[in-house]
Amino acid sequence: MRIIITGTGGRLGAAVSRLLRERHRVIAWDRKALDLTSPDQIDDHLGALDFDAVIHCAAVTGVDYCETYPDEAHAVNTAAPAQIARICKTRGARMIHVSTDYVYDGTQPGLRRESDPCRPLGIYAKTKRAAEEAVLEVSADFVVARASWIFGPDRPGFADAIIQRAMLETHCGAIADKWSNPSYSHDQAALLEALLLNPAARGAVNLCNAGSCSWLEYGQTTLDLAFAAGVSLQCRTLSPQRCAEMPGFLAERPVYTAMDTSHLAALTGQPVRPWQEALAEYINTYYGRG
Ligand SMILES: NC(=O)c1ccc[n+]([C@@H]2O[C@H](COP(=O)([O-])OP(=O)(O)OC[C@H]3O[C@@H](n4cnc5c(N)ncnc54)[C@H](OP(=O)(O)O)[C@@H]3O)[C@@H](O)[C@H]2O)c1
Repeated sequence: MRIIITGTGGRLGAAVSRLLRERHRVIAWDRKALDLTSPDQIDDHLGALDFDAVIHCAAVTGVDYCETYPDEAHAVNTAAPAQIARICKTRGARMIHVSTDYVYDGTQPGLRRESDPCRPLGIYAKTKRAAEEAVLEVSADFVVARASWIFGPDRPGFADAIIQRAMLETHCGAIADKWSNPSYSHDQAALLEALLLNPAARGAVNLCNAGSCSWLEYGQTTLDLAFAAGVSLQCRTLSPQRCAEMPGFLAERPVYTAMDTSHLAALTGQPVRPWQEALAEYINTYYGRG
């Protein structure tokens, strides 16, 4: 297949591009190659190529940044994917649009299913939800893949930040009152390929590793794995913090957005491994002694 992947300078897009290159003709676009704030560039780039599918990973992902730059968030997170969807439809190509667990109404504990209500809170979540609606309005056969708490080697994320802090500081904390699914970009790349190859995959699909945890549990598990892998840590035990205590948080965040993976497993035919197993592989591979 000839597959265009956007956002390949980012954590997920880089992993998807690396994996799919092994079996497909990949056209990888980072921000330098295509600026998604420019509708003309989008038309020119997609118009110039023959392709079978787009996996759209690019987005303005800074949740608080989006509160300050809502026009940019709207252009990149809503208008660009809507335009890409229209072009895909015209060209008979398939589209997978990567979205977020932040679209869900996170008021109830438990695992979110794809049919659960959405209630995006901040600008980031609202622009991502508007994109989901726009993409699926263009074609109900397109896929909206809802990702969450991505970690991977291509761009440092929460797991890397907590290790760095714990290497330098004796007292570190993590948020104990927000839940989701940590997810490995390598696993998500394989699952995205399986979704792309299954024509029965359509509409919203949760795209994450299995199981749920708080940021505190995610951070503590990360430190335990890093210590076991030989990383020298000043802080071994994280203290609990609350979202409301975080001075840098401009955007309101949903609380319970951990997602159920049974639809993902059924559509991909692949086991969706628990986040702890995926995180252990990541830490051992990238932080281990050997
Ligand atoms: N990271 C998470 O935990 C998480 C959670 C839920 C959902 N998601 C979704 O998953 C997808 C991938 O996220 P990620 O973790 O890979 O994020 P990321 O590392 O921030 O990558 C996003 C990419 O989009 C690019 N981008 C931003 N503005 C652009 C523009 N105007 N034109 C072209 N490219 C632009 C960024 O370019 P630069 O490299 O130049 O900044 C970056 O490479 C996104 O749709 C995100 O909403 C992520």
